[in-house]
Amino acid sequence: MANSNFQHFITILLLFFFISPTFSQQSFRPKALVLPITKDGATTNQYKAQINQRTPLVPLNVIVDLGGQFLWVDCENKYISSTYRPARCRSAQCSLANSDGCGDCFSSPKPGCNNNTCGVTPDNSITHTATSGELAEDVLSIQSSNGFNPGQNVVVSRFLFSCAPTFLLKGLATGASGMAGLGRTKIALPSQLASAFSFARKFAICLSSSKGVVLFGDGPYGFLPNVVFDSDSLTYTPLLINPVSTASAFSQGQPSAEYFIGVKTIKIDEKVVSLNTSLLSIDNNGVGGTKISTVDPYTVLEASIYKAVTDAFVKAPAARNIKRVGSVAPFEFCYTNLTGTRLGAAVPTIELFLQNENVVWRIFGANSMVSINDEVLCLGFVNGGKNTRTSIVIGGYQLENNLLQFDLAASKLGFSSLLFGRQTTCSNFNFTSTA
Ligand SMILES: *[C@@H]1O[C@H](CO)[C@@H](O)[C@H](O)[C@H]1NC(C)=O
Ligand SMILES: *[C@@H]1O[C@H](CO)[C@@H](O)[C@H](O)[C@H]1NC(C)=O
Ligand SMILES: *[C@@H]1O[C@H](CO)[C@@H](O)[C@H](O)[C@H]1NC(C)=O
Ligand SMILES: *[C@@H]1O[C@H](CO)[C@@H](O)[C@H](O)[C@H]1NC(C)=O
Repeated sequence: MANSNFQHFITILLLFFFISPTFSQQSFRPKALVLPITKDGATTNQYKAQINQRTPLVPLNVIVDLGGQFLWVDCENKYISSTYRPARCRSAQCSLANSDGCGDCFSSPKPGCNNNTCGVTPDNSITHTATSGELAEDVLSIQSSNGFNPGQNVVVSRFLFSCAPTFLLKGLATGASGMAGLGRTKIALPSQLASAFSFARKFAICLSSSKGVVLFGDGPYGFLPNVVFDSDSLTYTPLLINPVSTASAFSQGQPSAEYFIGVKTIKIDEKVVSLNTSLLSIDNNGVGGTKISTVDPYTVLEASIYKAVTDAFVKAPAARNIKRVGSVAPFEFCYTNLTGTRLGAAVPTIELFLQNENVVWRIFGANSMVSINDEVLCLGFVNGGKNTRTSIVIGGYQLENNLLQFDLAASKLGFSSLLFGRQTTCSNFNFTSTA
């Protein structure tokens, strides 16, 4: 009797072990997902994420492109997977990718080279190089999250991405195998992951000079020690659609996948900077306006805006008594012996006024001043020259230690302002897994 009970117990135990992996994958629906981000600070200033793709899973480093259209990876160099499937022309996947391209390949069939496949245009937004690639599906594994910690890994069995030839990796950080697009298309990571797990089309990024994080899905999001960000702790501004694609190659009529916001006025130490305000709006040709970018390491300003902003910065009372030193490329305005504050070096505050006087994105010393060495800090804005496509590109350094939440359904951006003001940083996500 005891013996048969014991056998029964073993059978149940075995059943449990065999069933539980698939069971847990199918029944566990994550609330959110988390992707750790590291900065390749020494050389490229690119932000890298590690994803796990294919069967068997292969860890891949990909560069985070906030406005990128989709995930693209090098398929030319050792793509081995039993679950790779090219997307056919005119398939449902192909229309999700907004493509009507149909591709053939005159070589032996392999990932990235099949006939009758949906053609897309993977874009290296750092070198501004685009090429044609095959749209495909494969397994993607990613860590779930409750917004505060990572949890168990979950799998998307048919995650859409584009194959690219090896040459497209040129200009990316060493060891990178592609780019992860977080833009506003249906096949960029945020929308594809939201639809795979039926959570809100929202995601947050929190970059840092060391370890940061992207959280897919809605908040609240927590950082150590016990700092919680929810809709009450963020300031919101509408996300604007640029009607003309800003990708390196595109077909006519395609809107931009990048995230634009409406800066109306710039103030420095509470004084309005006089600018040609028509540069601040996006015209019918998609020129002008302000976008947020993770592939530009520093904020880039159109020449006349750059001149007005830097003139105002240098003349502001808070900058008059600090000691200027020689410029350090790509920066022009460098200082020594700056006093430190909780919000970074004591320099004039740069304020971007958005839809009204009450919605302000403040740039304090921690985001405006770039440390060159122990003594010298430079204003981390660069001159984009005349005839820029986008007048203001808010770059990675200016985003660090600010939490940004993109709400695709409501087309709005929530921003936290510098986290130092709340005694935390973007590297304070608690990466201890609860799984
Ligand atoms: C595609 O079709 C062409 C013409 O039929 C053939 O020469 C080529 O080998 C095929 N390519 C692949 C990858 O199957
Ligand atoms: C302001 O910018 C617009 C758009 O670039 C340009 O057409 C116009 O000539 C500029 N106005 C002045 C006064 O510079
Ligand atoms: C920085 O400040 C210290 C103390 O006030 C002074 O001795 C030093 O000369 C200053 N350095 C420069 C480069 O101005
Ligand atoms: C991080 O999360 C783990 C798991 O929930 C928890 O045990 C740990 O106390 C947290 N760390 C801190 C410093 O709060």
